[in-house]
Amino acid sequence: MTDPNTITDNSASFKALILQSKDQVQAALNHWLPAEDSKPETLHRAMRYSALSGGKYVRPLLVYATGKALCVNAEALDGPACAIELIHSYSLVHDDLPAMDDDDLRRGKPTCHKAFDEATAVLVGDALQSLAFHILAVDIAIQTRIELRIKMIETLAHASGSLGMAGGQAIDLEADGKGTNFTLASLQYMHSQKTGALIRASVRLGVLSAPDCDEALLTRLDRYAADIGLAFQIRDDILDIEASTDVLGKSQGADIARNKPTYPALLGMDGAKQKAQQLHESALENLATLGSEADSLRWISEYIVQRPN
Ligand code: IPE
Ligand code: IPE
Ligand code: MG
Ligand code: MG
Ligand code: MG
Repeated sequence: MTDPNTITDNSASFKALILQSKDQVQAALNHWLPAEDSKPETLHRAMRYSALSGGKYVRPLLVYATGKALCVNAEALDGPACAIELIHSYSLVHDDLPAMDDDDLRRGKPTCHKAFDEATAVLVGDALQSLAFHILAVDIAIQTRIELRIKMIETLAHASGSLGMAGGQAIDLEADGKGTNFTLASLQYMHSQKTGALIRASVRLGVLSAPDCDEALLTRLDRYAADIGLAFQIRDDILDIEASTDVLGKSQGADIARNKPTYPALLGMDGAKQKAQQLHESALENLATLGSEADSLRWISEYIVQRPN
């Protein structure tokens, strides 16, 4: 596999897209998140701390890249981009709680429950989740037909719930300590739910932002998203072993410390890397009928399997 740092070096436009998406979603989040000096101040400060703390913003990037491929204007994508990032941020705040992964470091800073307290972190998750659905319901920049707006809400609800991210997290908790005592099929299912579901929803929200939603294209893009969603968590498992805490911005070795079933645990490091690469190739095949308008999606897939953090 190539050096993770070379991936964006020869694609200036991808670098620009990453930066532009990040700026754009941060500005939109800043608009939607309640001000720090509005009551209850501590909760609002903690919500901002968690949602604007400098993640990679991969899910908003996927919303923008998908929408752009379908000629949706960028402003109309801000709401869906914010909504998915808010659900993701909430999932991390809860994921780090002592009752779950019990982590102290996130994005290079103390986790929400360390910077504030556990009760506040629980409420931050609750409130970020509600805000995500509020935005999809009321954002006037979302110009798609009302049926598609409702489909966006349904998409996010399904991806976040017990048949999506929250369900995957439940399976992950049950899997604590199981290490290699877990089948590959169960691991794939868990990863596809806990991480893949929100990544699939990101692409779907981009498609639903377009005035005309072609079912065949939606199916192809959904397969692409399922591939990169699983690859994203495999890369996360690999980085938990290979990257440093400094580069990760979260504690290295957290999975081994809890004896979590992961792709490297089940397939070995080489096997895990091969699996991620196969998923990248399959993701590209699912984009084969699309032209250069889908280049950003191709880059994102490559970035996901080679990212350094
Ligand atoms: C981390 O997600 C948790 C997983 C779902 C693997 P990211 O790697 O996208 O985290 P941030 O948002 O960039 O911090
Ligand atoms: C987290 O998976 C997935 C979700 C938050 C839904 P991990 O527990 O592996 O994520 P990190 O490694 O703490 O970011
Ligand atoms: Mg976890
Ligand atoms: Mg975790
Ligand atoms: Mg992890």
